[in-house]
Amino acid sequence: MFLVTGATGDIGRRVVRLLRTQEMSVRSFVRLTSRYSELEHRGSDIFIGDLQEEKDIPKACQGVQYIISAHGSSSNALSLDYRANIELIEQAKANKVEHFVFISVLGVDRGYEDAPVFKAKRAVERYLQGSGLNYTILRPAGLASNLLPLAERFRETGLYLLIGDAKNRTSIVSTDDLAKMVVDSVTVSAARNKILPVGGPEILLRGDIPQIFSRIFNKEPLLINAPLLLVDGLRGGLGLFNSEGQKALGTFRTLLANEFFCTTEEIANLEAIYNFKLESLESFIKRYLAV
Ligand SMILES: NC(=O)c1ccc[n+]([C@@H]2O[C@H](COP(=O)([O-])OP(=O)(O)OC[C@H]3O[C@@H](n4cnc5c(N)ncnc54)[C@H](OP(=O)(O)O)[C@@H]3O)[C@@H](O)[C@H]2O)c1
Repeated sequence: MFLVTGATGDIGRRVVRLLRTQEMSVRSFVRLTSRYSELEHRGSDIFIGDLQEEKDIPKACQGVQYIISAHGSSSNALSLDYRANIELIEQAKANKVEHFVFISVLGVDRGYEDAPVFKAKRAVERYLQGSGLNYTILRPAGLASNLLPLAERFRETGLYLLIGDAKNRTSIVSTDDLAKMVVDSVTVSAARNKILPVGGPEILLRGDIPQIFSRIFNKEPLLINAPLLLVDGLRGGLGLFNSEGQKALGTFRTLLANEFFCTTEEIANLEAIYNFKLESLESFIKRYLAV
């Protein structure tokens, strides 16, 4: 039995679909407010709970062999990115789980002080490495599925809002490829006890993305390139009445202000480990938006 947290998220729901296609038994950890009927129809067990509730994690972990931690946090990095994962690791040990897959983030080891999600994930990586469990830690760059709403807006309006430096490099990964790596990590021996940077097959400039959309939809881009100062202003204003929101924006700013890409060697290594060719951003967008 696989336990998947974040099972209704972009990565998690693809992981559950793949596991069910392979007829694996899966328990999806979902919140009552989530949209989880698709997972149920695919034959996943549904565990209703909240990762911030102390009692829910031990119950969800009972009798599982594999744990895939794929939940996100929005604004509560301490409780979700950190504490919930530490508790999942403790429960994995108690239940003698065979393999733990953790979705971290590229750049987590660069010591970004203002990015609570990065700090929490780095601490969890270390905890998992010292846990004695078999593990795979995947550190993805940006997910292609994040860009689908932007691509749809571009299709309608030609508009693309780019905050920060258009020359920053990125390796957007197909969310389907990432889900496949997650699932294969429990069986592929070269992925055992590894930390792997995960990106797509090409190193893009952030400014290439509207050009790709332009090619796909045959439309001239109307590019609005806003400076990072915009986020700084927003953060400053938010800090006056919502300090948690201000801290969460720190992670967002870190993502916008820095480069997140994999080297060609890292991508070749990934393709060799998992034995498949990674999909380009262009192909992913075309596939989803039926172009
Ligand atoms: N998106 C990216 O570009 C990116 C890049 C690198 C790494 N990552 C990491 O990859 C992981 C998954 O990302 P994603 O984009 O697939 O996430 P996502 O689409 O934002 O989904 C987040 C998931 O976490 C669940 N969740 C949030 N709070 C919860 C709680 N209190 N109890 C139970 N479940 C809760 C959500 O459930 P609901 O449906 O109830 O909201 C949802 O299923 C995250 O750890 C993220 O940091 C993402």
